[in-house]
Amino acid sequence: MTVPPSLDVRGLAYAYPDGHQALFGVDLTIGRGERVALLGPNGAGKTTLVLHLNGILAAGAGSVTVAGLPVGRKHMAEIRRKVGIVFQDPDDQLFMPTVREDVAFGPAAAGLRGAELDAVVERALARVGMAAYADRPPHHLSFGQRRRVAVATVLATEPEILVLDEPSSNLDPASRRELADVLRSLDVTVLMVTHDLPYALELCPRSLVLSEGVIAADGPTREILADDALMNRHRLELPFGFVPGSVA
Ligand SMILES: Nc1ncnc2c1ncn2[C@@H]1O[C@H](COP(=O)(O)OP(=O)(O)OP(=O)(O)O)[C@@H](O)[C@H]1O
Ligand SMILES: [Mg+2]
Repeated sequence: MTVPPSLDVRGLAYAYPDGHQALFGVDLTIGRGERVALLGPNGAGKTTLVLHLNGILAAGAGSVTVAGLPVGRKHMAEIRRKVGIVFQDPDDQLFMPTVREDVAFGPAAAGLRGAELDAVVERALARVGMAAYADRPPHHLSFGQRRRVAVATVLATEPEILVLDEPSSNLDPASRRELADVLRSLDVTVLMVTHDLPYALELCPRSLVLSEGVIAADGPTREILADDALMNRHRLELPFGFVPGSVA
């Protein structure tokens, strides 16, 4: 039996209730265990696409399938367990009185209790270097610390596919590198939205470019970043002095 891809998106189109159309027929497939970067300028539709992957937004046209399961009302609980999303804004993710309760929320909903639950929470917080903050209220943490806790809430649920919307923004360089180490160590499928092109190159062998609501390119990250015409066309810019070919 062949394993279904972790994610399959076909002809996905979406207009917001105010009539603004953000997605115009997105097609993409991500195989199990792949790490893929989703690149594209501000307003391209990246976050809109992400919000379709666990049913927060419902497709206007087309379909989203996660590990063979159609995203829709029928399988919502299972889809929410399979797709772990780290939102662009951690304040959309953290809502409990303490960090510990936020990280425990997902695994508790999946049935974990007692010592087993405590161990999962400790481990997820340790992976993002936030174990010492378990009893603090999330709203007392810095933005970067909240981002790290948001990552822990998702790691604790052991999803089939981990979707991160600009995970490295606002992280200090050491936290950024530590998050990269965590992502590399995980045996899950990763889709990472990022404007941090060196981060995409470091972590994701493959990249997709979303531009004006469609996939404009899909290929090896190194080749995409080296394609000046493509990069210019979609407002993608490498940091000053960064040469993608020079990175091992
Ligand atoms: N709630 C909303 N109602 C109406 N239009 C929206 C809404 N949210 C986003 N949009 C519009 O949809 C388009 C895509 O927005 P989206 O947030 O998906 O972009 P993005 O690629 O994630 O951008 P960024 O890189 O800035 O995060 C934009 O033109 C945006 O103005
Ligand atoms: Mg966005």
